[in-house]
Amino acid sequence: MLRVEPLSRLNDRKSFDCGQPALNDYLQKTALQHIEKGISRTFVLIDTDAPTKILGFFTLAGCEVVTRNLPAGYAGKYPTKAPAAKLARMAVSIDQQCQGLGTIMMAEAIKRTLSIAENIGIIGIFVDAKNQIAREYYEQFGFLALLEHPLILFLPLRSLKAAMDGAGHSVH
Ligand SMILES: CC(C)(COP(=O)(O)OP(=O)(O)OC[C@H]1O[C@@H](n2cnc3c(N)ncnc32)[C@H](O)[C@@H]1OP(=O)(O)O)[C@@H](O)C(=O)NCCC(=O)NCCS
Repeated sequence: MLRVEPLSRLNDRKSFDCGQPALNDYLQKTALQHIEKGISRTFVLIDTDAPTKILGFFTLAGCEVVTRNLPAGYAGKYPTKAPAAKLARMAVSIDQQCQGLGTIMMAEAIKRTLSIAENIGIIGIFVDAKNQIAREYYEQFGFLALLEHPLILFLPLRSLKAAMDGAGHSVH
């Protein structure tokens, strides 16, 4: 059974390879430190039959955004700066890509963001896409590119529920 859980020392971080050295490095060297310092939270997707193997991971953090760069229709709705969640990293092990695991993690990231939104107030979730391919990947979940920064994408609060339903997967 697939399960999303907080990254811990029990997970085999060293063997994880998503094909992007910067993301591997973050998981292997920085993610646990950031958890301990409260900077961000990293979650891993595992199979309960082999729980040490990391199939994928994502990292959530808080951020503050300058709202004038938001997509058309949103820019004028907020004060100059507003709080938001950030999907700081997301990656699937190279031998597990294109099997829907990224979609499962996206649904989970959005579910957790909704819970944050209920408790502290945020305008939505932001993600930095590494390139145009990643941008298209996020757009399929309803993320909208910022006006002057097309590789930064925004999923507004009111779209979170629909995006989670669209991702259509759940894990325990
Ligand atoms: C990007 C990534 C997280 C996607 O995870 P995944 O498990 O391979 O993706 P899924 O299988 O859930 O794909 C869901 C859909 O997105 C599409 N898709 C997958 N990778 C894509 C990509 N790079 N760009 C655009 N679409 C993509 C798939 O075709 C699939 O659509 P379908 O269900 O209609 O077939 C994963 O490929 C990865 O870790 N890549 C390397 C690290 C990376 O680039 N991370 C993003 C940093 S900005």
